[in-house]
Amino acid sequence: MKNTYTWYGHATHGLKVGENRLLIDPYFTGNPAASTTAERVEADYLLITHGHGDHIGDTVSIAKRTGALCISNAEISTWLRGKGVKTHAQHIGGGFRHPFGYLKLTQALHGSALPDGSYGGNPAGFLITAPDEAKIYIAGDTGLFGDMRLIGDEGLDLAILPIGDNYTMGPDDALRAVKLLRPKRVVPVHYNTWDLIAQDPVLWKKRVEAETEAEVVILKPGESLEW
Ligand code: NI
Ligand code: MN
Repeated sequence: MKNTYTWYGHATHGLKVGENRLLIDPYFTGNPAASTTAERVEADYLLITHGHGDHIGDTVSIAKRTGALCISNAEISTWLRGKGVKTHAQHIGGGFRHPFGYLKLTQALHGSALPDGSYGGNPAGFLITAPDEAKIYIAGDTGLFGDMRLIGDEGLDLAILPIGDNYTMGPDDALRAVKLLRPKRVVPVHYNTWDLIAQDPVLWKKRVEAETEAEVVILKPGESLEW
């Protein structure tokens, strides 16, 4: 089975697992780095890590147009259900076998207020085990935490990590995260969207590949990685 990861810019991700099209943190409207639009993108599932505007983004409009199932924590799921979209609530540490694979919510050190000020519960990351056993970890917005070692024990094929600093891990802590997570490949995200999170991914790649076994794959918004 073929899996495809696509970076749509900032922290908006596509994941095609077999025939299932996942869209994670679908932020297109107002995203200076977006490689497509909320009107054009297709999805069967929308996965939301936390309530911040640059993550919940266009979830409601895309869910209404496509009929995609929205998967998030209980608080965000309740908020989304109130907007008339289909939801499936999970929570930190809990996994569920969806048609695209087994999805477990992981902890993230961050906030999660929704754009209208509603309480969005605790922020999450996603650990996806595809039907072919490929393991993909999307950290979401987070600071470094030592229990990334436990997530790494699962044996990660791909880790998607923020490196932008200011709001999330910066390059130094993201390098330490790679050492804990021990993924085969890592894609840096959540950088260069705005000046405040400007980073040099080429420099980061050199540092990570000098100090770990991981391969760093630098994507431009709209580019994909297949395996
Ligand atoms: Ni955030
Ligand atoms: Mn963010």
